[in-house]
Amino acid sequence: MVTKLTDTVRYIGADDLDLDLFESQYIVPQGMSYNSYVILDDKVAVMDTADARKADEWKANLKEAIDGRQPDYLVVHHLEPDHSALIEWVLREYPSVTVVASAKAIQMLPQFFEDIELDGRTLAVKEGSELSLGSHCLRFVAAPMVHWPEVMVSFDELDGALYSADAFGKFGALSKCGFYGRDDDDWACEARRYYFNIVGKFGGPVRTLLDKTSALAIRTIRPLHGPILEDNMEEYLGLYKIWSRYDVETDGIFIACASIHGGTLAAAEKLADILRSKGAERVVVSDLCRSDFAENVEDAFRHSKLVLAASSYDGGVFTPMYEFLHRLQIKGYCNRKVAILENGSWAPSAGRVMKEMVGAMSNIELVDPMVTIRSRMKKSDIPALENLADAIL
Ligand code: FEO
Repeated sequence: MVTKLTDTVRYIGADDLDLDLFESQYIVPQGMSYNSYVILDDKVAVMDTADARKADEWKANLKEAIDGRQPDYLVVHHLEPDHSALIEWVLREYPSVTVVASAKAIQMLPQFFEDIELDGRTLAVKEGSELSLGSHCLRFVAAPMVHWPEVMVSFDELDGALYSADAFGKFGALSKCGFYGRDDDDWACEARRYYFNIVGKFGGPVRTLLDKTSALAIRTIRPLHGPILEDNMEEYLGLYKIWSRYDVETDGIFIACASIHGGTLAAAEKLADILRSKGAERVVVSDLCRSDFAENVEDAFRHSKLVLAASSYDGGVFTPMYEFLHRLQIKGYCNRKVAILENGSWAPSAGRVMKEMVGAMSNIELVDPMVTIRSRMKKSDIPALENLADAIL
């Protein structure tokens, strides 16, 4: 799909509606978009390519957009294969094109393209470098670890456009979710799931990027995934500020439960009822065994408090909880209040493992004591659940 953004800028990306798992792990019920742009000025600049799955469509879009002209530059903001798969093809197809990227990206290019011939075909840019295309001029801002080390973003003053690489991206194809952010009924939902699972570990680098770009007069963000953002810029930037600081977005309690035969889940739901009866306005219970792990990671980061409820298993904790906590650890979960509810039929071990895993995270306030139930919640367990609810609140 070629879409005119301005008189001189075209969208040439592609939707992927058949993708089973993004990055071989994330479900994308509404598909995915691989965004790419062309600036048609005195010079022609192609802004990133696309995933190999959409090679034919992307090549056709490019040819239609440039309408017989030759691209002068291929700007590579990010080298991950969902954006870079067609670089070698562009170099072969257009012998005069120059790849513009960070030095790190140029160094990494041969890792992805064994036979690529780069001599005299690259231009390394760094923080503050400018590339004049005629009326448009791209100013580069280094964004290492948003999401890979070679990432650059660029700002085009003429359009007030930030080409933001993975930042401000989201799951969902444009044909399903809307081409512009204003057409997207709930941008934050899938943008948040994308952020915490893909970029979330790199809150520090994202904060640095936000600081560096805060002085720019950004009127539009053109990310590599998801809709183009033009209106309500404050809302998008505000959410990124909260997320990158690991701040609380929503005051509430997220109860994550891994239950083998339902006994632990019944106790978790009882705790949720008690919390509500004591005035908690937002309590969300999730069955880790039957829900999207990425949504659960997102919900843990989103809310102010977390309850971990799990069965004991093989001398440790039931594996869905282990996997959930492992995800939280590697994504940098921190700065939250956490309570623990364990279940064990003969030798409870879940609580010990959950405590150890949470203990390895930064600035976690662990609610003491944890509650232990034996096989099934009984009337005699209710006072302990009431006390736990009071401590959480
Ligand atoms: Fe969409 Fe980090 O690539």
